[in-house]
Amino acid sequence: MGDTGVRRVRSLVLGLSLVIAVFILSFYLSEKHGVVNAQTKDSCVTDKCHSKMGKDRFVHGPAAVGDCMACHTGDAVRHKESPARNKFAPIKDVGGLCYKCHDRVDAKKGVHKPVKEGQCTNCHDAHQSPYKYQLREDGQNLCFMCHDKKIASGKFVHGPVSVGGCSMCHNPHQTDFPKMLNASGNEVCFKCHTDKADAFKGKKFVHKPVGEKCVNCHSPHAGDYKFNFKADGSQELCFGCHKDKKEWIAKVKNKHGGLETDKKCLACHDPHVSDYVKQLVKKPVDTCNICHDRPLDTQDGKIVDMKTYLTKNKEYHGPIKQGDCSSCHNTHGSDNFRILRKYFPQVFYAPFDPKNYDLCFNCHEKTLVLDAKTTTLTGFRNGDQNLHFVHVNKAIKGRTCRACHDAHATNNPKHIRDAVPFGAWGLPVGFQKAANGGSCLPGCHQKFGYDRINSVRNR
Ligand code: HEC
Ligand code: HEC
Ligand code: HEC
Ligand code: HEC
Ligand code: HEC
Ligand code: HEC
Ligand code: HEC
Ligand code: HEC
Ligand code: HEC
Ligand code: HEC
Ligand code: HEC
Ligand code: HEC
Ligand code: HEC
Repeated sequence: MGDTGVRRVRSLVLGLSLVIAVFILSFYLSEKHGVVNAQTKDSCVTDKCHSKMGKDRFVHGPAAVGDCMACHTGDAVRHKESPARNKFAPIKDVGGLCYKCHDRVDAKKGVHKPVKEGQCTNCHDAHQSPYKYQLREDGQNLCFMCHDKKIASGKFVHGPVSVGGCSMCHNPHQTDFPKMLNASGNEVCFKCHTDKADAFKGKKFVHKPVGEKCVNCHSPHAGDYKFNFKADGSQELCFGCHKDKKEWIAKVKNKHGGLETDKKCLACHDPHVSDYVKQLVKKPVDTCNICHDRPLDTQDGKIVDMKTYLTKNKEYHGPIKQGDCSSCHNTHGSDNFRILRKYFPQVFYAPFDPKNYDLCFNCHEKTLVLDAKTTTLTGFRNGDQNLHFVHVNKAIKGRTCRACHDAHATNNPKHIRDAVPFGAWGLPVGFQKAANGGSCLPGCHQKFGYDRINSVRNR
């Protein structure tokens, strides 16, 4: 190693120890007992003058060492002789003064207004204070010097706010995020609610407002309802955005009991995320069966335990196979019998009107019951005689679809029922399928058969 090299190392070591020494000194002096030094005879702090200076729990470094002149400009000697006549110059650029020794705190995209204006001493006392960082107030009271207390009041106060920790989410000086927040979007919440971050990850469906921001529903500060909501979370909160649902539910004649449990909307929907369409808590059919796993009372009489019914009847109608109850029922209520989406006669007989079967003709062809003769429209024909036409298309006593079919499932082909309610009687249908047709022995007439190729002559 050459001479210059040695010299360089030496000066480096010297420089380093100097820095360390200054650091230790300043650390030592910034402690309260540094004030002892400030009370030497040249000091500005005497029993008579500025006697309280340095007595608080937290004293600013340069004030603690009594270096008043680090910040104040004026003639200290003449000031001591005659304070009233020899005033110190007022400090105009407070921010600039602080930045002489401190790193800038206004470099990021969002700067808190008082910081931007260099009003450091609005929050920090330049000399001392009972609070850490020489703050003028403790915890949230500091913020409430300028912000309305109301922000943190409500019947329910969010955990971190109730302990006064505004700084757990906000940076008092500067930030790269909106609203002085210390993280972006929902990350603010996930920093603490890690369980939710994990639970929400990888789900197929995210309720749109949740993806946007948690504060769409939860106040980060406080609220008058559980979970810091602005309105009751099980229904009114939802209505705030889903106004159409509020109007619909109020308007429909036939209300669904499913909406009227304590959980209201949350009986079927998850407010955050879901693996099933439409934020449902389970697969659609399983969602219905949360309640329809037992017979229930309705204004139109008792209804079956649908869960058991569907395990006992194996031939499922198309939409049931697809697990889609909502193609026929409107879970949020309807003007129709059995909260059906379209009109469907509740009765065994009805004068023919294609509108009666709107529900079925949503998916099936109307022509099924319109043409008396056909060789294509339906399998329910005797030769070319359309037996759907025969039974249904009658001016007075047309049979409704429910006279023969069950909309959900049966153990017979073509969803033909075993029996149909006829007043108080379970009228049997007595259907038997054959290769090219079938036969019935219903409670309506003697056994009749039909055959699509060689028409049967029934008496
Ligand atoms: C770190 C800079 C700094 C130091 C060191 C400092 N001051 Fe100050 N002082 C200020 C600022 C800034 C103000 C203006 C106060 C404001 O803007 O609220 C001030 C104001 C004052 C005032 C006016 C009344 C008041 O309290 O606001 C007095 C008196 C005062 N200082 C005395 C002292 C004395 C005595 C010392 C030394 C023990 C000292 N200061 C050290 C920055 C300092
Ligand atoms: C002459 C240099 C100087 C000036 C000017 C100065 N400070 Fe300081 N400040 C210090 C020193 C030295 C410390 C003690 C550092 C330490 O303890 O780590 C300190 C500590 C602080 C602390 C506490 C930091 C901590 O981590 O505990 C705050 C807050 C602070 N200053 C704010 C201000 C504000 C506001 C101003 C302007 C009114 C200001 N300072 C002006 C030198 C200065
Ligand atoms: C709105 C109030 C407010 C204003 C204005 C403000 N501060 Fe602070 N400052 C705080 C709070 C609160 C803390 C404590 C932060 C914490 O708990 O992490 C703090 C901490 C500090 C610290 C010590 C911790 C750190 O971040 O290094 C320094 C230094 C500091 N402020 C300097 C300044 C300076 C310089 C200014 C003016 C340019 C200023 N502050 C203006 C509220 C404020
Ligand atoms: C000295 C007064 C003062 C203090 C103390 C103060 N603020 Fe502010 N704050 C303001 C002003 C002024 C604005 C700007 C308001 C505006 O633009 O409408 C502001 C704005 C804000 C904003 C909104 C920013 C935005 O983009 O809308 C937040 C959040 C905020 N302050 C949080 C705090 C927190 C947290 C504290 C306590 C650590 C605090 N403030 C202390 C004066 C203050
Ligand atoms: C759990 C995190 C969290 C805490 C703790 C918190 N805030 Fe906020 N604050 C937020 C979020 C998030 C927003 C943005 C709200 C929005 O975008 O609607 C916000 C917004 C604000 C605003 C801007 C006005 C507004 O409503 O948009 C002010 C002012 C504010 N907070 C002050 C405070 C004060 C004062 C405290 C302490 C009493 C505090 N905050 C505590 C997360 C928090
Ligand atoms: C600094 C940590 C922290 C942050 C950040 C935070 N929270 Fe919290 N949150 C808590 C604590 C602590 C509780 C109280 C937990 C308890 O009482 O069991 C809580 C409770 C809640 C509750 C009520 C839960 C219950 O079981 O009562 C909701 C809702 C909530 N937070 C939403 C949010 C949202 C939304 C955000 C983002 C804007 C957020 N939190 C950010 C700490 C945090
Ligand atoms: C569409 C409104 C809405 C949004 C947006 C929303 N929540 Fe919720 N949150 C709710 C409802 C409703 C409940 C009550 C759930 C219950 O009672 O089962 C709730 C409950 C909570 C709870 C407490 C109960 C529990 O499940 O542990 C936490 C924590 C929570 N939400 C966090 C969040 C977080 C984090 C976000 C953002 C990622 C968020 N929420 C976004 C509506 C919402
Ligand atoms: C802040 C507004 C807001 C609140 C509050 C809200 N939602 Fe939503 N919700 C939306 C938006 C936006 C969509 C997306 C609509 C779209 O894509 O057309 C949506 C969609 C839905 C969907 C359909 C999801 C899909 O995959 O198509 C359901 C179900 C739903 N919300 C239920 C609820 C329930 C239940 C509540 C109450 C716990 C609620 N919402 C509260 C805004 C909200
Ligand atoms: C008994 C179960 C159940 C309850 C309770 C329930 N829903 Fe639904 N909801 C569903 C089903 C099933 C779907 C999907 C089928 C559909 O679109 O009708 C759905 C779909 C939705 C949709 C998205 C599709 C659309 O129609 O816009 C919204 C929004 C919605 N529900 C809001 C609500 C609100 C708000 C409440 C509380 C008032 C609520 N739901 C209560 C079962 C329910
Ligand atoms: C939270 C419980 C609950 C859930 C979940 C539920 N229901 Fe219901 N449902 C009821 C109750 C209670 C009744 C009886 C009261 C009534 O007449 O609405 C009922 C009645 C019905 C009726 C007969 C309505 C009438 O007016 O005669 C139909 C049809 C029905 N539900 C279909 C469904 C479908 C389809 C689903 C799934 C999308 C579903 N339900 C989910 C509780 C529920
Ligand atoms: C193809 C249309 C259709 C589909 C799909 C459908 N339903 Fe129905 N549902 C009806 C019709 C029509 C009635 C009235 C039947 C009657 O009274 O003859 C009804 C009646 C009901 C009843 C009352 C039964 C009774 O005992 O009177 C319940 C409960 C019910 N449906 C639940 C469901 C559930 C759960 C699903 C999904 C698994 C579902 N429905 C799918 C058309 C449908
Ligand atoms: C949401 C659409 C939809 C509605 C509404 C609907 N169906 Fe169906 N239906 C289907 C589908 C899909 C099939 C299965 C077709 C297939 O397997 O080729 C089917 C099959 C049938 C079958 C048996 C056909 C076969 O070849 O096995 C009958 C009978 C039937 N539906 C009657 C009805 C009746 C009666 C109604 C009114 C209460 C009705 N459907 C309402 C979609 C619907
Ligand atoms: C008198 C009993 C009866 C009535 C009423 C009835 N059907 Fe049928 N339907 C049948 C029989 C039997 C079959 C089976 C034909 C075959 O394939 O052998 C059938 C078959 C069907 C099929 C399967 C396709 C086809 O035509 O072969 C559909 C779809 C259907 N019916 C819809 C309806 C609709 C919609 C109504 C009400 C407008 C209705 N049915 C009324 C007895 C009836």
